[in-house]
Amino acid sequence: MSKIGIFFGTDTGSTRLVAKSIFKQLGEGFANKPKNINRTDLAELLQYDALILGTPSYGIGELPGLSTGCLESNWREFAPYLDGADLSGKKVALFGLGNQERYADRFAGSLIHLYRLFHDRGADIIGRWSTEGYKFDSSDAVIDNQFVGLVLDQRTQPHLTDERIKIWLAEITPHLLPVLP
Ligand SMILES: Cc1cc2nc3c(=O)[nH]c(=O)nc-3n(C[C@H](O)[C@H](O)[C@H](O)COP(=O)(O)O)c2cc1C
Repeated sequence: MSKIGIFFGTDTGSTRLVAKSIFKQLGEGFANKPKNINRTDLAELLQYDALILGTPSYGIGELPGLSTGCLESNWREFAPYLDGADLSGKKVALFGLGNQERYADRFAGSLIHLYRLFHDRGADIIGRWSTEGYKFDSSDAVIDNQFVGLVLDQRTQPHLTDERIKIWLAEITPHLLPVLP
C-alpha cells in the first residue's frame, strides 16, 4: 500500500479524535483515513508497510479491551490475530493517550504493550518521544528515559496536542515515507 495506515483503539473517542488530527496533518496524499482496530482484519493491517498505531491506556499492565472495562473490542481482542505474524520490514510509529494526574503511577502504560506486540514480531518501531513536559511518577511506556511513542494527555494537556503531533510527524515521516512502494 502506497500510503501510511493509521489504526487506533478507543473507548470514549479521544484516541479516534487524535488519529483524525494526525491524518489531517499528514494529508490524504500520504495516509488513508484512520480505522478503528475493532473494525479491522489482519490482512487490512498487513497491507501497509508504514503504520501509525494509537491506543488509550486502560487496566494495569495490559492492552485495552473488554477485560479492562472497555465497552467495545479494542487492541486486546485484535492481538491474538498477530500470533505468528512476521512484521519484519514494517516501520511502525506509536502514540498513546493517558491521564498523568489521575494515573501518575502508570501513565500511558498500555503503550508498552502495543510496542511489544509489534516489536516482538519484527517491526521496526520509530518515533520515540521525550518525557519532558509531563509530570508523572511512573510509566511502563518509558525505555531509556524516553516514551516508546508519542504520548498525549487529552484530559490535562489538550492544548499541547496539536503542536506535539506536528513536531512528532516532522520527525517520523522521513522514516515512514521511504518504505512506501
Ligand atoms: C477506568 C479508566 C482507567 C484508566 N487507566 C489509565 C491508566 O492506567 N493510565 C493512564 O495514563 N490513563 C488511564 N486512563 C485515562 C485514559 O487513558 C484517557 O482518558 C484516554 O484519553 C481515553 O482514551 P479514549 O477516549 O480513546 O478511550 C484511564 C481512564 C479510565 C476511565
